[in-house]
Amino acid sequence: MGDTKILLPEREIPKKWYNIMADMPNLPKPPLNPATKKPVGPEDLTPIFPMGLIEQEVSTERWIDIPEEVLQIYTLWRPTPLHRAKRLEEALGTPAKIYYKYEGVSPAGSHKPNTSVPQAYYNKIAGIKRIATETGAGQWGSAMALAGSLFGMEITVYMVKVSYNQKPYRRIAMETWGAKVYASPSEFTQAGKKILEQDPDNPGSLGIAISEAVEDAATHSDTNYALGSVLNHVLLHQTIIGLEAKKQFELVGDYPDVIFGCCGGGSNLAGVSFPFIQDKINGKELKVVAVEPASCPTLTKGEFRYDFGDTAGLTPLIMMYTLGHDFVPPGIHAGGLRYHGDAPLICQLYHDGIIEAKAYHQTAVFEAAVLFARSEGIIPAPESAHAVKAAIDEAIQCKEEGKKKTIFFNLSGHGYLDLQAYADYLEGKLEDYEYPEEKIKEALAKLPVIDI
Ligand SMILES: Cc1ncc(COP(=O)(O)O)c(C=O)c1O
Repeated sequence: MGDTKILLPEREIPKKWYNIMADMPNLPKPPLNPATKKPVGPEDLTPIFPMGLIEQEVSTERWIDIPEEVLQIYTLWRPTPLHRAKRLEEALGTPAKIYYKYEGVSPAGSHKPNTSVPQAYYNKIAGIKRIATETGAGQWGSAMALAGSLFGMEITVYMVKVSYNQKPYRRIAMETWGAKVYASPSEFTQAGKKILEQDPDNPGSLGIAISEAVEDAATHSDTNYALGSVLNHVLLHQTIIGLEAKKQFELVGDYPDVIFGCCGGGSNLAGVSFPFIQDKINGKELKVVAVEPASCPTLTKGEFRYDFGDTAGLTPLIMMYTLGHDFVPPGIHAGGLRYHGDAPLICQLYHDGIIEAKAYHQTAVFEAAVLFARSEGIIPAPESAHAVKAAIDEAIQCKEEGKKKTIFFNLSGHGYLDLQAYADYLEGKLEDYEYPEEKIKEALAKLPVIDI
């Protein structure tokens, strides 16, 4: 029946990232300066990003070299394994083949170091001493803390308060790698103070934490900002996942019919799927699906329009599906999926019908995660479990229809520091939040109106 783990030797690590902007039928509309409503130029971005990353943000070159220093660090955990989920297939009794790429083998436990390492590298060579960033679930903060320790840089992490309280071990991991971690909203920034004055019990959100980190970077000359998702260069770095996977599928003479990735800002979905979407754009039959939480349904229920990337309105206006920048999503356990918007590249592909989206409530997601853990062994991150759920549903549908599809998903991280979420599920305490229609309507009503 073939191997359970399809492994690549280290020498097979891809040496270039894939830039989908070279192949997209329609490029995303440019980000706008909120004051002038004109497209942002490099000069708008230099206060918080190094030039190496700004160049990647706007590049339309198809292939971008991965620096040698970054490749060397990648070998700490890459290439990651492609697994054939034989025991899950058996448990489901499906004729479908299920494969997953496992990014939880990175030292931080997720796909996020694929971009935190190059981001730290380009900042380091630009002479930057400190990086300020946000984290939802703690995975991105851990990845940035890890990268900071590998390059000898200081890292400050604004961690969404609900996760800070739910996940003390994530904070301790970040501190072990040498980072400073603050619960957001915090007293350390004007953005945080303003929110706390109005609402002292605010649970925080990625949008708020981004405002704090951007403000910190913009007000300190030795400090830059790093974002764990959404931006073009972040999605670019993640394509190493899909590039490896393509080689691994070649080794076993297979190719996916359908690809699932959970979608918070879109980076792991982009990473796993963009190299395959290149084939789809060139005529190959393939379904790619973003899987999001029903309580923060950005693609499935949001509006495609310009909005801010953060709550305070400090970032450029971005053309994306959005629920409104001051929408605070319910405190679900998949903290990394609690974001009001999505990457412009993902949104454009969705708008153009190249990718699809579906949304699930968290109890159904945890039920799937537990089935996965009991058959494949690995306990998935709550975010990744959204993709697990979608893959299981597809495999069940294959069983009902007698179809032998090849299903592929990205297991973007492990859940060993998310066990409180599993405890809540196992004790029947997990709540499903209704789609917060009124709150989203309110938030959308406040968006700036831009002529496009
Ligand atoms: C394990 C894991 N998967 C997925 C995500 C969602 O981010 P993205 O959509 O950028 O992959 C996160 C975010 O923190 C995460 O930690």
